[in-house]
This record gives sequence, C-alpha cells and structure tokens, in this order.
Amino acid sequence: MKEIDMEITLSTTKKTKPQADKLEFGKVFTDHMFIMDYITGQGWHDPRIVPYQKITLDPSAMIFHYGQSVFEGLKAYLTSDKEIFLFRPEKNFQRLNKSNERLCIPPIDVDKVLEALKELIRVDQGWIPDAEGTSLYIRPFVIATEPYLGVAPSDRYQFIIIMSPVGSYYKEGIHPIRIAVEQAFTRAVNGGTGEAKTGGNYASSLKAQEVSDKEGYAQVLWLDGIEKKYIEEVGSMNVFFKINGEVVTPALNGSILPGVTRDSIIELLHHWNIPVSERQISMDEVYQAQKAGTLEEAFGTGTAAVISPIGEFLWQGEKLSVQNGETGELSKKLYDTLTDIQNGRSDDPFNWITKV
Ligand code: COI
Repeated sequence: MKEIDMEITLSTTKKTKPQADKLEFGKVFTDHMFIMDYITGQGWHDPRIVPYQKITLDPSAMIFHYGQSVFEGLKAYLTSDKEIFLFRPEKNFQRLNKSNERLCIPPIDVDKVLEALKELIRVDQGWIPDAEGTSLYIRPFVIATEPYLGVAPSDRYQFIIIMSPVGSYYKEGIHPIRIAVEQAFTRAVNGGTGEAKTGGNYASSLKAQEVSDKEGYAQVLWLDGIEKKYIEEVGSMNVFFKINGEVVTPALNGSILPGVTRDSIIELLHHWNIPVSERQISMDEVYQAQKAGTLEEAFGTGTAAVISPIGEFLWQGEKLSVQNGETGELSKKLYDTLTDIQNGRSDDPFNWITKV
C-alpha cells in the first residue's frame, strides 16, 4: 500500500448530523473533504484534507463550458463491531481512471487515492450512520479547472472527494419501483461516452426523467440508440431480468456503465449456480415473457440503488406488472446477501471488503 503524504486541516466547527431515520440521498455533507490539484508538467499534487467548503473557480473554467468531468460513487459501512468497511473501492477508482481516459483527464494513482479516502473517512468517522439501510455515500470527482474557452483537454484539474450520510436512494425504499421505458430520447450511442461515468450522460437523461417523474415513474429504462430495441440500463443503475429461471443482464457494449454492483451480482449468481447471461436482451423479449407469465423478476443494481426490485414497466402505453408489484425472492436474497457482506453481518468469501 502506498503512503500518501498530505496535510490535514481540521474544521473548527462541527455541523449537526441528521437523524438516522430522516436521511435522504445526497443532501447533507460531512465536515471534511479531500482535494488535490493537477497541472500539466507537475502532475497530481498538493493532496489535502480540508474542512468541507465552497470551491472558487474562474468563470471560464473549462468544466462550466464543455463538461469535462468524471465522478464515482461508493459507500462506507459501520459494522456492529464499529469497524468501517468499504465495498470494492479499488474497482471504483479503476473505473474512474477508465472514465478519465475517455474524457482526456490524467489518471489518478489508485493506491494513493484509496489511502487518502481511508484517512478522510477516519477524520469523519462519526458521520457514518449505523441504522439499517444507511451508509456513508462517497462521491469522488474530477473537474477541468483551466480558465480557457478553446475546445481542448484542460491542463488543470481538481480531484475532490465529498461524503454524505445516506438512506435509500428511492423514496420507495426497498419496495419495488416503477420504471418507464424511454422511447423518444437516447442516453448513449456506440462510441459515445455511455460507459464513462461523466456528468454529460446524466445531464442528457434529465428531460426523459422529468417526463416520467410527472407520471409517477421513479426512473427511465434506456434502450439502444440505434434501433430503440435492446435494453441498456436504467438512469442510476444496471438492470437484470429473471426470465424462465435464467437471469439476464445486457452485455457491456460500450454504451452501458460497467457497474461494480452489477459485477458483484453476476459473481454471486455464478457462485449459487443460478444461470446468468450477459447478452443482448430486447424490450420485446421482456414483453413476450411478461405476457407468457415467464418474467419472474426484474431489478436494478447500483451503489446508490443497491438492489432495487422493479414492480412495473410502462412500455408503449401499456403497464407491465412484474411479480404483481411485489419484491421477488431472488431480488430479496441478493439484497440480503450483498448488504450482509457490506455491513459485516456475514463472511466475505469474495474478498470484496477493504477495512478502513
Ligand atoms: C451510484 O450508484 O453511485 C451512482 O453514481 C448513481 C447516481 C447517479 C446516483
């Protein structure tokens, strides 16, 4: 493990922590944050933990104009023995570097950044909630800070980590959500930035999300950008279907985010000898399965979303109910197994946990 030599400036005031049963997603932030800077020629430098604060940027900073930015999402958990667990953090930082590569942002040193994150968590450990279904959500991100209006990769960046105690992402909690299949807009296309975790993908999803939200749907399900036929992902999570005993998730094709939870679920299913395929799956296949009564379950996976059962799809004006809108047995078992490992309630046979 690499040491990281950094300055720590502690906050002189402490914010009031929200009540564990009133936690919303991403609205309250801990007392401290991590920052480091990049300048071409000097590399990443000046890593530091500072009190959570506003950052000052030039109005011409490139992030504001051309959206050169990437982010990650991971979580820290407090076990009943008061140990702090991170779930596969190196995967998130490796994915950040893949997103960096796509967005022409210089790579970060995964080991050093992980050490910095652990230190930040130690500083703010009193912020990790311990109630059932809660955790400390960690948001690392990089922004282009060079003041310049030419369209080119920036020669300055900031890498920042902020943290937020959270409850469930959806207002439905662990109850099944309703999803509208998007037919007008496209999230990503082959060769685009779909598999990178960059703000632009989320900005372009907002319009569809706004429409479906008005109709009471939690999220939209994106189809491929060419034929509008094959399933890609849901706004904030990857998606799985159980059809006739087989679990299917869309194969990573360049326009789908390679989720860390997605990968973990596939590993768990293999471990349980439950047939699981990563392949193309069309909305028509799901429709036919629902009509034939073989669509047994559907659920989304993500760091924020954990395992979110899907109880209904809206597709071409028709409501397709899954499991009569109830949580399926497999979704429940996956949720319990994953969160038991994450919270230290069971063994970690896959070596997914990093202790802080
Ligand atoms: C996450 O699951 O961490 C995400 O980044 C999804 C997010 C857009 C809320």
